[in-house]
Amino acid sequence: MNHEPAAPPPPPPAPPVPLAPPSPMAEARPFHDPLHMPEQPEQDLVVQTRGLTKTYGQLYALNNLDLDIPRGTIFGMIGPNGAGKSTAFLILATLLVPTKGWATVCGHPTLDEPKSVRRKMGYMPDVMGVYENLTVTEYLEFHAATYHIPSAEWPELIHGLLELVELDVKRQTIVDDLSRGMKQRLSLARALIHDPELLILDEPASGLDPRARIELRQLLIQLQDMGKTILISSHILAELQQMCSEIAVIEAGRLLASGSPNAIMDSLGAGRAVRVTFADGSVEDFPVADDAAQQELLRRLVLDDARPVSEFTSVSRDLEDLFLKITEGIVQ
Ligand SMILES: Nc1ncnc2c1ncn2[C@@H]1O[C@H](COP(=O)(O)OP(=O)(O)O)[C@@H](O)[C@H]1O
Ligand SMILES: [Mg+2]
Repeated sequence: MNHEPAAPPPPPPAPPVPLAPPSPMAEARPFHDPLHMPEQPEQDLVVQTRGLTKTYGQLYALNNLDLDIPRGTIFGMIGPNGAGKSTAFLILATLLVPTKGWATVCGHPTLDEPKSVRRKMGYMPDVMGVYENLTVTEYLEFHAATYHIPSAEWPELIHGLLELVELDVKRQTIVDDLSRGMKQRLSLARALIHDPELLILDEPASGLDPRARIELRQLLIQLQDMGKTILISSHILAELQQMCSEIAVIEAGRLLASGSPNAIMDSLGAGRAVRVTFADGSVEDFPVADDAAQQELLRRLVLDDARPVSEFTSVSRDLEDLFLKITEGIVQ
């Protein structure tokens, strides 16, 4: 668009607008600067952030965070308490304004198009508010109303959601009387009420017993199968290991590493091995350098008729190891 009056000679053509902002962290600008927003956001990325920064006085709650979250993934954000996880999620949920940088959800910038972002995204905070005297059904009706869902649709919608999170039998129970695990599942149902593409779950497994954790994990995998993209945080690393295809490790507001847990371990040169149980009951550990070496080892073992294999598993490479290696030496 050119708002110049007609009289003066036309200005020289503007340089092409870059599709993506330059990556160096120091270049982060407020995201409404059009030069630094991608003109056509990447369709396959449900979440994109660049230079995302939030300061409170001298404290950097988030420090130049760059994230790309592909559609359909369960993406884990891992970091100790105070790392900046909730701050990042609040910005993506349009509930907090960043100091610098920008974030998009399904291509919509959180600051310029918050309503579109809220339609695409369901946010489950780390603590559920108090809803005195509301039943489970009334709680979901209340939230359906806040999304302007016509009341005629509520019964079927709420029935479906309660079945999904296995709370149908509790539909007349007062919310405050539910167990922690049930409250978490109800909170998840609430986050799903407008059928969002992206679920943002802030430490959903905290305070759950092992059984409730397993159920939550199964539910999230079911939601992934339904086509949802899930962004989930935890400070308990093992919790996310089995379900996240990608993780971002953050500490003191900074991204320390991101990628698949295996790729990060490989890039760190972390020791890994395959533990093999043979048919005769003997157990042996075989060190491997990377995925390719592991595949080659397994092929060799399976083809070796002399020593039939009955079981194998990866050892000494869980996220606890990974996390300790990455955050080593950083003072909190
Ligand atoms: N409203 C606030 N005012 C001041 N400091 C804050 C505020 N919110 C968060 N912080 C600080 O920002 C840092 C990141 O917090 P948070 O995002 O909640 O971390 P996490 O969720 O990873 O535990 C912490 O040091 C926290 O104390
Ligand atoms: Mg938090």
